[in-house]
Amino acid sequence: MCGIVGYVGTKNCAPILIDGLRRLEYRGYDSAGLAVYDGTRINVTRAIGKLRNLEAALAAAPLTGTTGIGHTRWATHGRVSEANAHPHVAGEIAVIHNGIIENHLALRARLVKDGAKILSDTDTEIIAHLIDAQCRKGLSLEDAVRAALKEVEGAYAIAVIRKSEPQKIVVAKNASPLVLGLGEGENLCGSDIPAVLPYTRRVIILEDGQMAVLTADAVRVTTVDGTPVDAQVKTIDWSPAMAEKSGYKHFMLKEIHEQPRAIEDTVRGRLDRENGDIVAEEIGLSPELATKIERVYLVACGTSSHAAMVGRYYLERLARIPTVVELASEFRSRDPVIGPGDLVVAISQSGETLDTLMAAKIAKEKGAKLLAIVNVMGSAIARASDAELYTRAGPEIGVASTKCFTAQMVALLMLAVYLGRRRGTLPAARAAELVEGIARLPQQMRDVLTGTRQLVLHLARRYMDARDVLFLGRGASFPIALEGALKLKEISYIHAEGYAAGEMKHGPIALIDANVPVVVLAPKDEHHDKSMSNLQEAKARGGRIIAIASEGDEDVHGLAEEVVEVPVVDPEFTPFLTVIPLQLFAYYVADLKGTDVDQPRNLAKTVTVE
Ligand code: AGP
Repeated sequence: MCGIVGYVGTKNCAPILIDGLRRLEYRGYDSAGLAVYDGTRINVTRAIGKLRNLEAALAAAPLTGTTGIGHTRWATHGRVSEANAHPHVAGEIAVIHNGIIENHLALRARLVKDGAKILSDTDTEIIAHLIDAQCRKGLSLEDAVRAALKEVEGAYAIAVIRKSEPQKIVVAKNASPLVLGLGEGENLCGSDIPAVLPYTRRVIILEDGQMAVLTADAVRVTTVDGTPVDAQVKTIDWSPAMAEKSGYKHFMLKEIHEQPRAIEDTVRGRLDRENGDIVAEEIGLSPELATKIERVYLVACGTSSHAAMVGRYYLERLARIPTVVELASEFRSRDPVIGPGDLVVAISQSGETLDTLMAAKIAKEKGAKLLAIVNVMGSAIARASDAELYTRAGPEIGVASTKCFTAQMVALLMLAVYLGRRRGTLPAARAAELVEGIARLPQQMRDVLTGTRQLVLHLARRYMDARDVLFLGRGASFPIALEGALKLKEISYIHAEGYAAGEMKHGPIALIDANVPVVVLAPKDEHHDKSMSNLQEAKARGGRIIAIASEGDEDVHGLAEEVVEVPVVDPEFTPFLTVIPLQLFAYYVADLKGTDVDQPRNLAKTVTVE
């Protein structure tokens, strides 16, 4: 998630822009830059790496002026380089952007054909050229932005300045966040409230399809179509620390609630809803290779390995490819028999986990094709791979992975649909259903977040003193049971185990008594009846049953002590919904116990040691 800041007023703005970018550092980035109007021209300074590199460049060659924009880039299109860093310039225009332009390739081709000199690999530079082209037709900056955005499909939060219209910033928002800070004789914009909070507590949160013109003395909000908007001004009473978490108490709780957006961003530009398919160029595997793959290995660690286990159901059910899930550390500890007919998928939020990286390298050495499903562009695992399918969850700060987990699952589902369509194992009608289901998923996840939060908090209060908790699931609910157990143990320090429900009779059921809460995942799917039997078995041994069930499932109410209901959806999507109450349960228990939720003891966000 890129960071955007803008300032127009009476102060020298470069230090203000740098300060704003620093307050957005938690959003993660790999390069940064400023564009400042000095009264005559727009001067741009950019640098890869941390803000200190940009500050060093500015110390050597200061930028002066009272109108400017600044940006920290979290790469989504185009590698990490100075040329790809923002701001991007075309003619008199300088633009910064957070988001993903879905039709950027087509627009690029048209602009190049019209003679534009495009210097970067980014979708953002395309926006700069579109606006510049409109300005050259005589439009004002505001109207040029309006006209250019009509050609653009996708997510954007942009800020634009123009040499011949000084003391003015034009901003626009669709799907990516943008706030305006209303000062005295100065006005600001930013990706998030922390960027403007030191200068004003009065903010306008722009909504999708809105834009604004900022000058030192005024902020005028309209729709992109030009209709005036009477925007609500909010007064923010957060501390800067709270503002980084958007008002949530911990990053983990914020990230649990960011999951719908993480899914939206991960699938953006990748769903071919017209043909019920996945956009081939986005997957990184050619159709020819898709038909040749004989076996898939999914290698990962921790939560990412649980996503891999869900992915195995997708790949075997939808693409009929034999799929093996391997803990990366174990994959390394044997001499796996793999070769050119195998696709190895390395799944990692950080892209830096040493076990997964080493497993990826072994796969490459043995001649397998290597696909990385990672969240960080340019990470070691991405660089080691033949192709990348990036999750676009944005930086995940909480050590306990949440939004990247569900983003990994949707990436694996898209991979399975893509492969199934090319291998002829997935009928077009079923593929179309799944593609539409993916498009509906973010709202269903929002509904589960709002619909279960209070009940799960109540459950956390009831069971926070448990010493042992079991999580049971069948089929694709088994990895969700493992994930629920991992979340609880890693942040609350309560001993928790996830088991395949069918395995209980082979020993683990001896653990159950009245002191052991048993969380049973029992959604309405093909395993429902057996799951109910497991639930009864656990209850008969005195277990205190918490059921995660489908709405309207009356059977479960008679058996479980507590029931958390999620909407009835296509079984392929159930894991995305049932994991949410488990994430919230772990969070609330840990918060009630007072553990360090975002940095739990003994753990690191990225395990770069063996
Ligand atoms: C998940 O909550 C844990 N923090 C941990 O299991 C993590 O998933 C694992 O270390 C893998 O990390 P990666 O996805 O960055 O490779």
